[in-house]
Amino acid sequence: MTPPAPSLLRCLFLGLSALVPPTFTKLQLQVAPGFSNLRVVEGSDVVLPVWYTKLGQESPDPSWKVLSAIWYLQKKDEKTKQVLAYFSTSNVIKESRVSLIYPMPSHNLSLRLENLQEQDSGFYYCSVNVEGNKDFKDHDSSKMVELNVLIPPAPPSCTLQGVPRAGANVTLSCQSPRSKPPAQYQWTGPSLYTKTFSPRFLDMVRGFLNLTNLSTSMSGVYVCKAHNEVGSAQCNVTMEVSSGQ
Ligand SMILES: *[C@@H]1O[C@H](CO)[C@@H](O)[C@H](O)[C@H]1NC(C)=O
Ligand SMILES: *[C@@H]1O[C@H](CO)[C@@H](O)[C@H](O)[C@H]1NC(C)=O
Ligand SMILES: *[C@@H]1O[C@H](CO)[C@@H](O)[C@H](O)[C@H]1NC(C)=O
Ligand SMILES: *[C@@H]1O[C@H](CO)[C@@H](O)[C@H](O)[C@H]1NC(C)=O
Ligand SMILES: *[C@@H]1O[C@H](CO)[C@@H](O)[C@H](O)[C@H]1NC(C)=O
Repeated sequence: MTPPAPSLLRCLFLGLSALVPPTFTKLQLQVAPGFSNLRVVEGSDVVLPVWYTKLGQESPDPSWKVLSAIWYLQKKDEKTKQVLAYFSTSNVIKESRVSLIYPMPSHNLSLRLENLQEQDSGFYYCSVNVEGNKDFKDHDSSKMVELNVLIPPAPPSCTLQGVPRAGANVTLSCQSPRSKPPAQYQWTGPSLYTKTFSPRFLDMVRGFLNLTNLSTSMSGVYVCKAHNEVGSAQCNVTMEVSSGQ
């Protein structure tokens, strides 16, 4: 004769699991405050501080074992790229210059990027799979780290367009071949701020300085400084204004 206990237990079990809200097992990724938008200079190293917790909690549950963790890089107009993958059954597969800072398995999935290159810019996010949470694969798009690799202006080149004769007009131009964000340009010269110099002849974005109605006193060295938020570089051009026709 079969005892009634098992079916009673099953009823109890079903009853209990129905009481447990499904959100109980959900995971969420955390990004350290202030680290969701990083602007870093080319050539330097950076750590993207990210870890996972149970939904609604601040700190991780150390008893949970991570089965897999994958870091992705998403760039505008490009296919999402996998930069690092950990699976408990194999070694970490990764791109060069990328590593996890804590040995796996760990709840802390912070990613180190070394010798940053311009192409490392983009949105980084990660997806984890934890024992007992096999359905957790989505990522929360608000938990991404935007990395912007900045480049100080490369040395600009200075040129003089036109013939510097008294009464004539010339344009001094200054261009840095590489800068992120784009460089802004500033010109200084022997007579620029002492004589009637109007800033409307200065184009800070394109690097032009237009000089009109030249006189011999405007002769001298003109220096252009290309600058952005991470650096500056300069060049100069010497202008000799001739008095003849
Ligand atoms: C995870 O590691 C990062 C980088 O070391 C650290 O800033 C962060 O506080 C760690 N998170 C937790 C919850 O320990
Ligand atoms: C020089 O520029 C001024 C102002 O733009 C203009 O009026 C003048 O005609 C120009 N002179 C020459 C020689 O091009
Ligand atoms: C300065 O000169 C450049 C090239 O000659 C010209 O394209 C530009 O319009 C001029 N800008 C001003 C403000 O005169
Ligand atoms: C150009 O400069 C000369 C001498 O500096 C001055 O006499 C003349 O009035 C100026 N011309 C214009 C158009 O500003
Ligand atoms: C002009 O540039 C040269 C070479 O780039 C540099 O040696 C010189 O010191 C510069 N002069 C000024 C006044 O900036």
